Amino acid sequence: MCGIIGFTGKLEAQEILLEGLEKLEYRGYDSAGIAYFKENGSISIRKTAGKVKDLRAICDENTATCGIGHTRWATHGGVTNANAHPHKCGNVALIHNGIIENYHELVATYDLEKDLISETDTEVAAALFNKFYDGENPIAAIQKVVPLLKGSFAFCIIFKNNPDMIYAVRNVSPMVAATCKDGSFIASDLTAFIQYSKKYFIVPEYAILTMSKEGISLQELDGTPIEPEFLEVNWDITAAQKDGYPTFMLKEINEQPAAITRTIAPRIHNGLPDFSADNIPESLFENCHDITIIACGTAMYAGMVGKTLIQDFLGIPVTVAIASEFRYEKPVITEDSLVIVVSQSGETIDTLEALRLAKTKTAKTLAIVNVKGSSIARESNYVLYTHAGPEIAVASTKAYTVQTAAFYLIACKLGLVQNKLTKTEALEFIQNLQNVSDNIAEILKLSANIEELTKRMLNATDTFFIGRGLDYTLSMEGALKLKEISYIHAEAYAAGELKHGTIALISEGVPVIALATQGHVYSKVISNIREVKARGAYVILLSMEENVTDASICDVHIPLPKVPDQFAIFEAVVVLQMIAYYTSTGKGLNADQPRNLAKSVTVE
Ligand code: G6P
Repeated sequence: MCGIIGFTGKLEAQEILLEGLEKLEYRGYDSAGIAYFKENGSISIRKTAGKVKDLRAICDENTATCGIGHTRWATHGGVTNANAHPHKCGNVALIHNGIIENYHELVATYDLEKDLISETDTEVAAALFNKFYDGENPIAAIQKVVPLLKGSFAFCIIFKNNPDMIYAVRNVSPMVAATCKDGSFIASDLTAFIQYSKKYFIVPEYAILTMSKEGISLQELDGTPIEPEFLEVNWDITAAQKDGYPTFMLKEINEQPAAITRTIAPRIHNGLPDFSADNIPESLFENCHDITIIACGTAMYAGMVGKTLIQDFLGIPVTVAIASEFRYEKPVITEDSLVIVVSQSGETIDTLEALRLAKTKTAKTLAIVNVKGSSIARESNYVLYTHAGPEIAVASTKAYTVQTAAFYLIACKLGLVQNKLTKTEALEFIQNLQNVSDNIAEILKLSANIEELTKRMLNATDTFFIGRGLDYTLSMEGALKLKEISYIHAEAYAAGELKHGTIALISEGVPVIALATQGHVYSKVISNIREVKARGAYVILLSMEENVTDASICDVHIPLPKVPDQFAIFEAVVVLQMIAYYTSTGKGLNADQPRNLAKSVTVE
């Protein structure tokens, strides 16, 4: 949520900032801006409502070598030029990711109203830093201001009279930094500067980072020096580029076979799941009587698959909790409960806070996370990294399938450790999981057919996704995908529940995407499909039958490769992703950057 970048060094800053913002745009794309030091030491700002390309259009030519840049996802105050960052007040300009919760009180206590021209909480912080800045010592100002702030923040601040220096401080909101021969970089996410440095460090919470042309220094708020802990990424800039695809989303859909193999292969030894390289002990699974899965959005729907799989397969009770609800509930978990948090970014604030709450009840927390070194990964007792590589499109695709694959590994491990699976059964299960990548590769070949069939969806205003069991969990993800990028209202229903109300919404031509991959409920789902078909629905059926020609069941049938039922969801979800994708592009929409959304939700 909001992307921030800063650079000071030997190179010209403006292009680094603009290119960095383009890479961070998935975090928010309501408005964008930069601030830099002019040669005479004064601070210049360019900012506008709109995207980074709009910002680029209003930038001048300059040779500044120090600056900060921001791309906004509006929280406080509408999408206007005045509300765009950077915010400048007196001798201070800053960019911010997060929410200052006590900004009203700060305005009143420090008499800041007269200094404000925007509606943002961020400008209040700028005014406060300015009030405490004596014109010489930025660190002293930061030390005074930070204890006054409530909420989450990642600030990059530049101070007049301290040219070519950037100061940064954060609480909760992510910020990573690097230093190399070209200069020093800071950003919300390292994709912004990975072409300059693969080594980076996470700026510790409540530490002050000082960036100069010579390098960086880090200190606690009280001045105690800190050594940064450097990490290294194992992917490069090409992983964060479109690589010939028209969009990141299409690229990421197509990357799924490789991403799944990367995620599962290192955890399979002699045909069985093995988490020893992840330092996840078998004891984590031994005494676990119940499991709570916590996540948001698509990650939560991966958790729904995990729940249905583990509960049906192993008979272990599993609850899936929406992180934003869980964090304010009184969780019924004990020290024997296993809590699994799922997050692509590892920074979703609700998931992070839910994890913190869960840790007060149990030491058995396991995070399934994609971004190395992220807050959730660091704070969880154990972490199982997925290896999807950077996911840039706002709508998650490859992160979902690798999270789901991780649940399959966990389910198999649980089954073995708790003697609910024999070795033979586990070997067969893992073999089926290893086949998933090839099966998805087959499905990807259907893209032209799926694009064609979505023409029928372009004018739809309502759609329904139905299924039972694992297919129902998948319906939820399919519906979310369609609504977030095509803006068509989509609802997921357990197929048997339709007749308790929702079927009233089915009328002539309403698209229903029906999933029927689960043998034990196949005939039941088919009956439910007939019910909607009889009321005029336009039914797209996904099943593992080679042929369904019965016109009383469906209008279009998408045959999926025949696999054991438990594994059909991997193929089916890719079809659902493509339905959403081609409906979005067919409507002329930007599938990568759907309206009102952002990828990394670091505010409540
Ligand atoms: C946002 C994104 C979704 C994502 C969800 C959870 O809503 O748009 O794609 O599933 O956040 O994000 P996380 O990084 O925790 O998986």
